[in-house]
Amino acid sequence: MNKIKAAITGIEAYLPEYVLTNEELSKMVDTSDEWIMQRVGIKERRILKDKDKATAFMGGEAAKKLLAKTNTSPDTIDMVIVATVTPDMAFPSTACLVADYAGIKNAWGYDVSAACSSFLFTLQTASSFIESGKYKKILLVTADKMSSITDYTDRTTCVLFGDAAVAMLIEPTTQEVGVMDAMLHIDGSGKDHLNLKAGGSLRPASHETVDAKMHYIYQDGKAVFKVAVSKMADVSVAMMEKHNLRPDDIAWLIPHQANLRIIDAVGNRMGLPKEKVMVNIERYGNTTAATIPLCLWELERQLKKGDNLILSAFGGGFTWGAVYLKWAYNAK
Ligand code: UT7
Repeated sequence: MNKIKAAITGIEAYLPEYVLTNEELSKMVDTSDEWIMQRVGIKERRILKDKDKATAFMGGEAAKKLLAKTNTSPDTIDMVIVATVTPDMAFPSTACLVADYAGIKNAWGYDVSAACSSFLFTLQTASSFIESGKYKKILLVTADKMSSITDYTDRTTCVLFGDAAVAMLIEPTTQEVGVMDAMLHIDGSGKDHLNLKAGGSLRPASHETVDAKMHYIYQDGKAVFKVAVSKMADVSVAMMEKHNLRPDDIAWLIPHQANLRIIDAVGNRMGLPKEKVMVNIERYGNTTAATIPLCLWELERQLKKGDNLILSAFGGGFTWGAVYLKWAYNAK
């Protein structure tokens, strides 16, 4: 019998209704549509305005839509894994909250924090559980309410991020599809270039941390940009070489959506034409854990069973990696 592999068998998304445009941002800080489009490639992003709703709500909505779309009973879900850097609370985990919201009663699960690489890290985690043979249906949710940690007076970060959630069903298959390989990395020496300094055990919330704006994203953009380009390109090319994949063999590169210039550089290093590089940063900005899943969700109807996809990401930590995925189904 063929070895068990893990496949994405369904995908749904939740996007908040409010659209924050470059025009609106240019009234809030000293920026312009021209600068943002030229330097990053974002036109607009979605923002969850309701102060009483957060990551678990978005993830829960995406999960409910996914269960309905795939005709899956919540009782059959074995595990819930949530990828996020913006959990509703330090504890309970967002996985507990999403499961409760979606009526999932027979599962266990937890959150994974790997910033913008967290979809790839959780896909590998879910894949290992499925390959073990012990678990049959894993709900994988990637969700971030980035607006909750964004300083809308800081032009260097507030133009970059958006809110979104995506839910996916991960199931076993013995066909030659699903997660074929993952190459994942962490390097904590990058911690000073991209972080959120306060609110954890090192610097609990205090008047001082609030006054110093330490509960917002800090990023040294230039430093992160350089490492992101080289690490994402290196690991994606390494994945191609390991599996003897030529550009013609790859249906799509689905990269993390942080900056169009990074995406272009990675596609070029892999020798891929622009038509094979999925880009939707213009409409959603950087939604952290949700960027690659949002691309998959938008592409679902175009993807064909057996398509070779390379997923590639880089994020705070530093964290980075690539996954080689063979798409598992033709959408109805
Ligand atoms: O997703 C996780 C990983 N993160 C990333 O991969 C992000 C990597 N970094 C980047 O994408 C880019 O570095 C940014 C988009 C964050 C910044 O672009 P950049 O081309 O590296 O700009 P910069 O930081 O070098 O700034 C250039 C200039 C500066 O002005 P001066 O010092 O030259 O006068 C900035 O103050 O652009 C200025 N600037 C802006 N101007 C208008 C920075 N942000 C803005 C803005 N509007 N929003």
